[in-house]
This record gives sequence, structure tokens and C-alpha cells, in this order.
Amino acid sequence: MTGYRAIADYYDAEYESLEMLQHDVPLFLQQLPRRSLKILDLATGTGRSAIPLAQAGHRVVGVDYDPTMLALARRKRDSVALDDRSLRLVRSNILRLKLSQHFDWACIFFNTFLNFTTAAQQHQLLQTIKQHLQPRGRIWIDIFNPNPEVLAQPVLENLDLNLFYVDHLDRSVCRTIEVRQLPQPQLQRVIHHYDWFDPQRGRQHQQVSFDLTYIYPRELELLLQHHGFKVEIMWGDYKASPVTRTSPRIICQARLKP
Ligand SMILES: C[S@@+](CC[C@H](N)C(=O)[O-])C[C@H]1O[C@@H](n2cnc3c(N)ncnc32)[C@H](O)[C@@H]1O
Repeated sequence: MTGYRAIADYYDAEYESLEMLQHDVPLFLQQLPRRSLKILDLATGTGRSAIPLAQAGHRVVGVDYDPTMLALARRKRDSVALDDRSLRLVRSNILRLKLSQHFDWACIFFNTFLNFTTAAQQHQLLQTIKQHLQPRGRIWIDIFNPNPEVLAQPVLENLDLNLFYVDHLDRSVCRTIEVRQLPQPQLQRVIHHYDWFDPQRGRQHQQVSFDLTYIYPRELELLLQHHGFKVEIMWGDYKASPVTRTSPRIICQARLKP
């Protein structure tokens, strides 16, 4: 299975009403000191997080391997009059990133850390992040906390029904999510189903599949420690509550040890 590729044309419309995405970037912004920082936004997508970070006065580099997502990010960046110095957009696989720059912070939002499904990929990602951080630089990781009720079901269908309208295609799309537990440990296949009606061709269906791992709070802490980070914060939601067994999120801030 290859990595996650969104349907770029849908991405902003698909996620604009998702409640958690109203809170994730503001919480991160609150954590940052007032001075201007150099921030590496990993898997930046359409710039959902990179643009507000740059607008807050930080110098941001956003990296993604999907040229269509990056083209949308570039268009949105230009439309709010941010220049390339405030927000640079780079096309690269983040596992093979090689920038000649060091950052105060690296961030990876919206579960994307879980797209790196093997220990080898997690290792490579954390090594790459370390190579791009200043001494004592920080990382911000925001992932879901595994929900035992979901994991107990081999297959779950018709989750998270979302009806959204894509303006530039003049199309209403109905999306549902299917989650299948795979035989390998801590691995699940996520399938996004998209249905819409085309006046010429009738009912249309498209699906996007990708694999996601899931990790537990203590496991994340050990992983980060193993790679030379000290966990400074671990929250379970966007109200900055401590993470518990039933928290929806694992929001983690960690710092490179000297
Ligand atoms: C769920 S979207 C998140 C986008 C954005 N960070 C946000 O929060 O809205 C995941 C993004 O990760 C990108 N991506 C996944 N694996 C990647 C990789 N190995 N290297 C670069 N980008 C990757 C995809 O192209 C997609 O844009």
C-alpha cells in the first residue's frame, strides 16, 4: 500500500466543517512564544496550518509530496499576500527531506504521523526531523488516541458521513469512511468512499485507501525518548486536558535533549 494521497480537489471542502480542525492550529499557536520562529510544517497539504502560522509572523517552510495539494497551498498563500520568505512550499517526501536550514519547531498535524506505519519509517521520519531542528528544537505531533471500541471491530463501515459541496466543480459529494483492521500488529486500512451524481454519467463513486498505524501515549513517549527528545507536554484534547485512556487525541510537544 502506498502512502496517503488526498483528493486535492475535495480536501478543503471535505474538512472545513470538522470540529477538531477549528482548534488544532490555534492551540499550537498559543504554545509558541511571541518572537518570530522558523517552523517546518511537515505534510503541509493545502497549507491549512502553514498559512495561519506564517500570518502570525513565523517563517514557515511547508513540505508535501503531492504537487496538486501544494498547488492549492500556493494559490491560497498568494491570495493572502504572503511571500516566499514567510511561507516557502517545497515538494518532497518528508522521509527523504534534505533542506539546508534548521528550524526552531517542526509540526505534523491531523494524524499524519500515523501514516508512517512501520518502526523503520517512524525512525526515518524522526531522524529527518532531528536533522532539520536547531539544537534544543521542538516537535509538535497531533494524533488520535486509539479507541478500543473501534479497534475491537474487524470492519467498520459508513463512519463519519460527510456531505460537502465543492464550489469549483459545482458538485455535492457524500463521503463515508470504512476502517478495516489488518492482520499485522497495529495496522488498519482506511478507505474513504466518495459518491456523487453527475448529470451526464449518473451516480459516481471513487475511493481512496491508505494504511494507518495507531500508537498509544506511552509508546509515543518511548519512541520520542529513544530518538533523543524529551516530552514536555502530552494533552488529550484541545482544552489542554491531560491525556487519559478515553481522551480523543494525543497532542505532544517534545524537545531535543542537549
Ligand atoms: C491529512 S493531510 C494533512 C494536511 C495538513 N497538514 C493538514 O493538517 O490539513 C496529509 C498530507 O500528508 C501528505 N503526505 C503523506 N505522506 C507524505 C510523505 N511521506 N511526504 C510528504 N507528504 C506526505 C499528503 O500528501 C497530504 O497532503
